[in-house]
Amino acid sequence: MPDLGDLPDLAEMPDLANMAVNVLTTADGRAKTALGRRYAAAWFAAREAGVPLAVGHAAPPLRPARPQKPDLLAPRDVPRRRPGTEAGRIALLHAVAHIELNAVDLHWDIIARFTNTPMPLGFYDDWVKAADEEAKHFNLMCDCLETMGSHYGALPAHAGMWRAAEDTVDDLLGRLAVVPMVLEARGLDVTPSMIGVFRKAGDTRAIAALEVIYGEEVGHVAYGAKWFNWLCGRDGLDPKEVFHDLVRRYFHGALKPPFNEEKRAEAGLPPDFYWPLVAEAGVKGQE
Ligand SMILES: [Fe+2]
Ligand SMILES: [Fe+2]
Repeated sequence: MPDLGDLPDLAEMPDLANMAVNVLTTADGRAKTALGRRYAAAWFAAREAGVPLAVGHAAPPLRPARPQKPDLLAPRDVPRRRPGTEAGRIALLHAVAHIELNAVDLHWDIIARFTNTPMPLGFYDDWVKAADEEAKHFNLMCDCLETMGSHYGALPAHAGMWRAAEDTVDDLLGRLAVVPMVLEARGLDVTPSMIGVFRKAGDTRAIAALEVIYGEEVGHVAYGAKWFNWLCGRDGLDPKEVFHDLVRRYFHGALKPPFNEEKRAEAGLPPDFYWPLVAEAGVKGQE
């Protein structure tokens, strides 16, 4: 249960879509996540009190505000560092912090972006919870970096992480397919080996933080699969066929095995969703 002690009067809270825009237009990472966490606590306090805040409508920016640092570079220009060194582990945590900040914005963006599509309140509950967890993840990564004498912004980071959001700016099913069901599912595949890197180094703080992230990300993929299936069911569409079409249309990379089949299954993502897209990506890659 969040600490509700310092919550302003719920009556003074903006509607949910405007909360999302306020988070998206806050540049500093710690300030963005603090504001989002306060809004999430207010949303759930109002839900629990039986007087839900309005979802409302707002105009989210095409791109969220971000801090001046880190510098954003094309993925091939981001220097690679060996994970066996402390500098390598700092680079790894910095990359995860960047992903988490992007995820904060992605989850608030899905809340504000599609309010013209009528959805149950549970849809908003799920993404507010996911956005709140991403804020926690970003702060955990920042804390780890700061303990190691670094900070978010000290290294360059990947540009282009917002592309999936821009590509699916008017397609809710496309957004669900590409963001939680492809990108966040990929996180489930790669996190265990990352935890292994920190286990080798005996960094218990980073291990604990990454385990929180790993556990909660299963839920985000599950929310994606749940609402994707719900929308397909509402419109009489075959979810698997639609998923394949949308990933082909909007996702520009390859789906790369090995997959974390167990966690993907736990999140409601069956193998016949993702395996057929691997074979295709392999063929495309040889053109
Ligand atoms: Fe996360
Ligand atoms: Fe997530």
